[in-house]
Amino acid sequence: MSREVKIAPSILSADFARLGEEVKAVDEAGADYIHIDVMDGHFVPNLTFGPPVIEAIRSYTDKPFDVHLMINPAAPYLADYARAGADIITVHAEADTHLHRSIQIIRDLGKKAGVSLNPSTPENVLENVMDDIDLILVMSVNPGFGGQSFIPSQLGKISRIRDMIGDRSIELMVDGGIKPSNIADAVQAGADAFVAGSAIFSGDDYVATIGALRDAAGKAT
Ligand code: DX5
Ligand code: ZN
Repeated sequence: MSREVKIAPSILSADFARLGEEVKAVDEAGADYIHIDVMDGHFVPNLTFGPPVIEAIRSYTDKPFDVHLMINPAAPYLADYARAGADIITVHAEADTHLHRSIQIIRDLGKKAGVSLNPSTPENVLENVMDDIDLILVMSVNPGFGGQSFIPSQLGKISRIRDMIGDRSIELMVDGGIKPSNIADAVQAGADAFVAGSAIFSGDDYVATIGALRDAAGKAT
């Protein structure tokens, strides 16, 4: 089975001193989205950047900004991320007491709404929002850091979510530990979009790595 997949380089592993150039480089290397990991040092044990940095890199690419909010609360800040240039805004089901309301806010801002699940979170939390979202982000590592290993138990969850999606046009994205050597397993489970941070930015040849991810995804049976 060969399915078209989307590749979203995570700039968490980019050279922060040259962030704009790094965004441009992965755009030119064939990225579909730019994945932007926002961490608050509270929901996750790490701190990254917020709207001003996103705004500063917006002009370096026309590719969609896929903003992954690992912050609690998220709702008060959604408009700031929309203004900064986000195209997709993903909130964590665990961080949001009123998940449905946050999704509504994101859509009212004219942006695509995503929901992310930590590895320990069951997929049934999605049941009552399935008709209101554009993207599901399955964490295949515990969020907070790049360069961790893919947690294989998430493959079963990916395939159960694929069944839940049915014929809805929801993207099923996987985030954490994705490499050319394991992307086919996630494609086979039903994912169609992939975040890759360290796999891409740890080398010098972004074209080659993005190509290797696409080739390996295409080999899924
Ligand atoms: C983890 C982030 C990921 C991370 C992925 O909290 O959400 O997007 O950057 O990095 P790799 O691909 O290195 O696991
Ligand atoms: Zn992420």
